[in-house]
Amino acid sequence: MTNYFYIIGCKGHAKSIASALKYNCFKEEIAVKMIDAYQSNSEGDLSQELNNSIKEGIKFIIGIGSNKKRQEIFEKLKLQNINYSSVIHPTAIVDKTASIGKGSFIGAGSYVGPDVKIGEHCIINTYAIVEHDSTIESFTHIGPNATCCGYTHVQKLCFVGASATISNNLTLGLGCTLGTGAVMIKDHIEPADSTFVGVPAKKI
Ligand SMILES: CC(C)(COP(=O)(O)OP(=O)(O)OC[C@H]1O[C@@H](n2cnc3c(N)ncnc32)[C@H](O)[C@@H]1OP(=O)(O)O)[C@@H](O)C(=O)NCCC(=O)NCCS
Repeated sequence: MTNYFYIIGCKGHAKSIASALKYNCFKEEIAVKMIDAYQSNSEGDLSQELNNSIKEGIKFIIGIGSNKKRQEIFEKLKLQNINYSSVIHPTAIVDKTASIGKGSFIGAGSYVGPDVKIGEHCIINTYAIVEHDSTIESFTHIGPNATCCGYTHVQKLCFVGASATISNNLTLGLGCTLGTGAVMIKDHIEPADSTFVGVPAKKI
């Protein structure tokens, strides 16, 4: 039986999702379709195409790397009653006690530890580590090779850059960005939407 998947997005992040879905395709039949959410002629066209697919029971994920754009597309399609599905790369390690929200992507070689809660439409990118008891809220992106130590709390719409580290028990506030290679050693909760870089991480 063929498993049909619809990726809303067609750039880099969408390709990573397609790659994860096809990694094991010698074991099961998988058909993946990507759609450019922005180049569709009109909102109506996109809705019509998606509506037809919903009727056919196809699984959906939003494959857009930008947190804000991913949320924007989610809000735009809210009335469609789409049943979003998470995608976990076969090489990722996800503890049995961890929960992964609808529409989230867990990338190749990444680790999601015990009692971790990953919200909806998150990205846990290639080789990222989310250690035990951490909470990653919806629409957040943990970049490639980044580490969230135990009991960390990353709020909604955050972006943790590649190879950045959040030390244990710390919170990164709503919509905040941690730059590539930054090391967070204290809470950075307010103001929302701030950017922190360097070692130790400081606001810019
Ligand atoms: C933090 C970041 C978002 C800032 O981008 P920006 O707002 O465009 O900022 P700028 O590039 O204008 O840099 C502003 C200042 O911060 C410094 N800076 C930027 N990123 C930095 C970083 N990661 N570490 C240290 N300093 C950094 C710049 O040198 C500059 O300093 P200056 O004003 O003294 O010249 C970006 O640099 C970054 O790290 N992005 C993450 C990329 C990533 O991980 N991608 C993975 C995708 S899968």
